[in-house]
Amino acid sequence: MKNSSSWTIDSWKNFPALQQPEWPDLSDLEKVVKELSSCPPMVFAGEIRLLENQLEKACNRQAFLLQAGDCAESFLDFSADSIRDKLKVILQMAVILTYGSGVPVVKVGRIAGQFAKPRSSDTEIVDGVPIPSFRGHMVNDETPTAEARRPNPQRLITAYNQSTSTLNLLRAFTKGGFADLSRVHSWNREFVSSSSAGQHYEKIAMDIERALSFMKACGIDLYNEPTIKEVDFFTSHEALILEYEQALTRIDSITEDPYGCSAHMLWVGDRTRQLNGAHLEYVSGIKNPIGVKVGNSVEPDELIQVIDKLNPENKAGRITLITRFGRDKIQHKLPPLIETVEKNGFNVLWICDPMHGNTYVTENNIKTRDFSDVMDELKSFFEIHKKFGTWPGGIHIELTGDGVTECVGGETETSEENLELRYTTMCDPRLNARQAIDMAFRVADMLTANKNRA
Ligand code: PEP
Ligand code: CO
Repeated sequence: MKNSSSWTIDSWKNFPALQQPEWPDLSDLEKVVKELSSCPPMVFAGEIRLLENQLEKACNRQAFLLQAGDCAESFLDFSADSIRDKLKVILQMAVILTYGSGVPVVKVGRIAGQFAKPRSSDTEIVDGVPIPSFRGHMVNDETPTAEARRPNPQRLITAYNQSTSTLNLLRAFTKGGFADLSRVHSWNREFVSSSSAGQHYEKIAMDIERALSFMKACGIDLYNEPTIKEVDFFTSHEALILEYEQALTRIDSITEDPYGCSAHMLWVGDRTRQLNGAHLEYVSGIKNPIGVKVGNSVEPDELIQVIDKLNPENKAGRITLITRFGRDKIQHKLPPLIETVEKNGFNVLWICDPMHGNTYVTENNIKTRDFSDVMDELKSFFEIHKKFGTWPGGIHIELTGDGVTECVGGETETSEENLELRYTTMCDPRLNARQAIDMAFRVADMLTANKNRA
């Protein structure tokens, strides 16, 4: 690894780190970092390299990345059912995308570590008094009192423990039979199957089952193929709280390279991707695939320097650019970035986050997103890449497996008036399972159009 010679596991401390909590007692934080540093890694370097290989294929137009999950995971919503249901909807989306477009789908959850949030303001005024903003359960509690909002480093340990249990369950589900393609029907939950997208899904599931039985009748028993029985499912989160990331960094015994072992893929948020900031410094030295959120304030020259800093060897699979401009702004923001990246010959995977540029607040003061705005941004993403002949390599989505009412429109026809019915997100509004399945069908069509053009 060609780290800048000055990189060390804590060299990020020499750079300004935005969006960090004001920990009340640094010696408590130090103890926690020490404890986590001696805990087992959550993921292994070999798995991280497998993801990098799959993302390299996506860079070369041979795969599509589906990255999806909660905006923020919660310490209070931690059950096998909710993890299973989130996994189900991601598996369903992947089947729809693969079946519809013929392109393999790389599956990465925003899960098992997505506990920290950047905020637009450090404080919030409650009853006329400023208190610290809620920064995710890894840092503090959402209850609006000064006491609940005080950052508590013990929460890093709780986040590690919950992530470990979540990952354990995900490994069991994806390798232990639940994700077996011959069970494709059983992932369709009642709430989804009664919708038209759900019924459309049933047809695909039936086709897949018929194909598997046909092959079996011909003497080829795919039911026992590992590629049918098991799924590669990877984890990711925003690398925001750098003490946590540092504490879970490990040196791989085979390559002797440093890996961030809190997740397979880490991304840097739109608010913390400063060229001379602590977050880019930290991720520049670890070997994981790195995502960079790219919002409206990025200029082409700056983006080039970010890519160069993170990937001086220009390795395909190392960098994923997650663009998030909003329905209208994508039209003039994305093209110059693609042009510049192409001109420089950089290997990057372009994926679209159509959620974060399309958030608005209703008259009743509820944060939401309109499914049609989200789809419009995706449509432009595919069209712009088609025009440039570049590969629209994936989507980055906030969703849940439940029947929540957080985003308006789409299959469920949720209206602004109905948002309060089941609004449970701790942070940004998520697609519910029906909206997610609906989206997958539409994206499969767009992907097919781009693929055929190539
Ligand atoms: C997020 O993905 O939840 C997020 C905060 O995104 P961004 O950094 O793009 O604003
Ligand atoms: Co979000």
